[in-house]
Amino acid sequence: MAKVLITDKINDLAVRIVSNVAQVDNLPTMDEDKLCEIIGEYDALLVRSQTKVTKKIIEAAKNLKIIGRAGVGVDNIDVEAATKQGIIVVNSPDGNTHAAAEHTIAMMMAMSRNIPSADLSVKQGLWERSKFTGVEVYSKTLGIIGLGKIGTIVLNVAHALGMKVVVYDPYAKAEIVEKSGAKYIQNLDDFWGLCDYITIHTPKTKETANLINEDTLKKTKKGVRIINCARGGIIDEAALAKAIEEGQVAQCAIDVYEDEKHVDKSPLIKLGSKAILTPHLGASTDEAQINVALDVANQVVEVLSGRNATSAINIPALKPQKLEAVKEFMELAENIAKIASQLSKGAIKDIKINVSGKLATLDISPLEIAILKGVLSANMVGINYVNAPVMAQARGIEVKISKSTSKDDSIEVEIVSSDSHTIVKGALIAKDVKRIVQLNNYITSIEPQNNMLLVPHINKPNMVAQVASVIGADNINISGMQVAQNIEKSEKSIMIINVDSVVEESTLNKISKIEGVDRAAYISL
Ligand code: NAD
Ligand code: MLT
Repeated sequence: MAKVLITDKINDLAVRIVSNVAQVDNLPTMDEDKLCEIIGEYDALLVRSQTKVTKKIIEAAKNLKIIGRAGVGVDNIDVEAATKQGIIVVNSPDGNTHAAAEHTIAMMMAMSRNIPSADLSVKQGLWERSKFTGVEVYSKTLGIIGLGKIGTIVLNVAHALGMKVVVYDPYAKAEIVEKSGAKYIQNLDDFWGLCDYITIHTPKTKETANLINEDTLKKTKKGVRIINCARGGIIDEAALAKAIEEGQVAQCAIDVYEDEKHVDKSPLIKLGSKAILTPHLGASTDEAQINVALDVANQVVEVLSGRNATSAINIPALKPQKLEAVKEFMELAENIAKIASQLSKGAIKDIKINVSGKLATLDISPLEIAILKGVLSANMVGINYVNAPVMAQARGIEVKISKSTSKDDSIEVEIVSSDSHTIVKGALIAKDVKRIVQLNNYITSIEPQNNMLLVPHINKPNMVAQVASVIGADNINISGMQVAQNIEKSEKSIMIINVDSVVEESTLNKISKIEGVDRAAYISL
C-alpha cells in the first residue's frame, strides 16, 4: 500500500480521503534533517506553508510521486527540483481566495475601529469609550496593489462599503480595471498620495519585494493605513515601524511577515494598538481549509491511482496522445515564455506564437498552454496547466498562433503589451539540446537556465571584463556566456550570462552603472 506523509496542520478530511488508497502518517511539522531521514519511505507528501520542501528533502525522497500544497502559493516548495525528479506538485489555486479577501476586510475594519485593543480594555474591566474612537472607511480611498483573485473581491467589498478604489497593477488591463468602477493608476509614484488605505495582493517577486519601503512610505498620504495579507517581505517592516512611530502611517494590519519563524523579532511587535498583527491567518477558515484539503487530497488519490492531477503546477494534465507528440518542446516553450514575460513591461494585450519545422505539422495546443503558464506565472500565483488559459482569457489576453515553413524546429513567443514589445525564440537544435536563438533584436544560441543575466551594452572593448569583474566580486559563478549581436547591425550588443545563483538588485545596480551598459536584467526560470 502506498504511504502518504502529512507534515502541517491540514483538515482531517484530507486524511480520510487519502486513507482510502494509502497508509497516512500525520506528523507535526519537522525540520529539514528530520524530514530527510524519513521521506524516502513515502509516495506522497502533503504540506501547508510551514514545511519548507527543499532540494535536499526532494533528493532524499526516492519514492515520492506527488507533493500536495494545501493552499495557493508554492513558494515553500522547490518546484524545479521536484520537476527534475519527476515529482508532481499540485496546489489549490483558489480554495482560500474568499478567506484571504475576507481577512483583509476584517483587518481593515479591526484597525479602523481599534477592535483588538478595545476588546482587551473591556476584558480588563475598563470602559474607555473616547480612547477607542475610530475612523470610517466610508468615502475613503482604498489603494489596491495587485488586482488578481483576492484583490478583485476586496475591490467589490470596498465599493459596497462606499469606498473609492484606486488600483496599481501594471499587468492588469486598464479597461478591465476601470470597468469594475475603480481608477487605474499607471505609475506607482502617482498611487501613494491618493490612498487613505493601502492593501497588497501581489505575489512576492523581485519587483514586489520591499515595494513598501522608506522611500515609498514618504510618498504616502500622512495618516495612511496599510494592510498586508499577501506575502511577507513585500513591506520593509523596519521602515514601516519607523513611519508609524513618526506618524506618517497611522496604523498597519499585517498577516504575513519577513521571517514568520521569528516574528517576535519583528519591529512591528512593539507598536501596540497601531499594529494589528495576525499569525498568517488569511486562509484559516473552516471553509477554506476544507476546500484546500479536498483539492489536494483528491489529487493525491488520483495520482496514486495512476490518473491525472487536476491542478498540477509542473506536469500538464493533457491527453497523453496530444502531449506525446510535442513533449520534447514543452519545457522550452514554457521557459521562453517565462523569459519573454519577465522582459515585457505593462499589461499584456496579445501573445503571438509562431512555430516552425516539425511543429508546424502538429497540434501544438499543449505548447500554447505551457506558454500561457510561463507568461502568467511571472506575476500571478497558483497558475497551472489547467487554469492558465482561463486566467489569460480573464485578463483579456488574446493568443494568436501562426506556423511558418522554415525548417528549424523552433517556437517564437511575442508579447505585445501596453508598454513594450518582446520577442523570444527558442529552438531544439539536436535531441534534448534546447537553445534561446533570439532575444528581441539579438541573435544568439544559449541554453535557457534558471538564473540568467541580460546586459545590453555598447559594443566596445573591455565591456565583458568589467561586467564579469562585478559578478565575480559579488561571488556569483558564471556558467555560460554569449555576446549577441544586434540584427540591425547597430553598435549595441547584449551579454547573456548564465549564472549559478540568484542575482540581487544591488549587483544589477552595480552592473548598470558601468559606462556603456543599459539597465541589466535578471531572469529566473
Ligand atoms: P493572483 O495571482 O490572482 O493575483 C496577483 C496579482 O498581482 C495579479 O493581478 C498580478 O498582475 C499582480 N501583480 C504582480 N506583480 C505586480 C506588481 N509588481 N505590482 C502590482 N501588481 C502586481 O493572486 P491571489 O490569489 O489574489 O493572491 C494574492 C497574494 O495573496 C499572493 O501573494 C498569495 O500568496 C497571497 N495569499 C495569502 C494568503 C494568506 O493566508 N495570507 C492566502 C491566500 C493567498
Ligand atoms: C497560501 O499561499 O495559500 C496562503 O499563504 C495560506 C497558507 O499558507 O495556507
